[in-house]
Amino acid sequence: MPASAPKRLKGVILAGGRATRLRPLTYVTNKHLLPVYDRPLIFYPLEAMARAGVEEVLLITNPEHAGHFLQLLRTGREFGLRITYELQEEAGGLAQAVGLAEPFGRHSKLLVLLGDNIFTHDLRPSVQRFAERDRGAVIFAKQVERPEHYGVVEVDGDRVVSIEEKPAHPKSRLAQTGVYLYDERVFSFIAELTPSERGELEITDLNNVYVAEGSMRCETLEGWWIDAGTSHDELLEANLQVAKLRRAGEL
Ligand code: G1P
Repeated sequence: MPASAPKRLKGVILAGGRATRLRPLTYVTNKHLLPVYDRPLIFYPLEAMARAGVEEVLLITNPEHAGHFLQLLRTGREFGLRITYELQEEAGGLAQAVGLAEPFGRHSKLLVLLGDNIFTHDLRPSVQRFAERDRGAVIFAKQVERPEHYGVVEVDGDRVVSIEEKPAHPKSRLAQTGVYLYDERVFSFIAELTPSERGELEITDLNNVYVAEGSMRCETLEGWWIDAGTSHDELLEANLQVAKLRRAGEL
């Protein structure tokens, strides 16, 4: 077993939402339980947590599907994790979901993963570095062809200057992926957020609190990455790429 990250850093995986972009696949099934090659999508972020050395993980999902996750993942022992569960009862947005982790994560730093992101990058060095730092947050970015589909990041060295959610005119080709590191103040920042036009607490608004403070850093997610939940085509692409990577023993 590899050495684990200090216990003052815990993991949160967001696996709720209605996934309207993937209908009709998601009328009955939670997006994160859909197959990606030979396993359910949620297995990939769970394995990324284990690779990063984060052992205590809170999985947040919606009440209709929580039982399915419990049946599938149980204690998490098979992943080398200890999984606990929390419910997001309304479509309140990704930042609202992170806020639900407060009883679990208070006084800890957090590695937050969106449950539909699959990547080959090993987060362990970044997680260990961050666990030793005092304040701030980190986003992980990736160059993409169509930045307008993502949160778009503008940087000055490794310091983040702005993040714009799905802008019509992106300032760069750097997409914010679904991988975030937050310090212990994240819950007090979430408490101050106001809902966006679609009535949700947005992860980008939360990240921009750190940007405004000058304490948001950007690291590059190396290797392969996909947000499999964006469209049917991205889900298909995830299946094709994961099949290749798993046959090659690279994921
Ligand atoms: C979310 C974030 C977006 C980010 C993306 C990465 O978007 O809001 O900033 O680029 O995840 O996976 P969503 O995929 O929920 O639309």
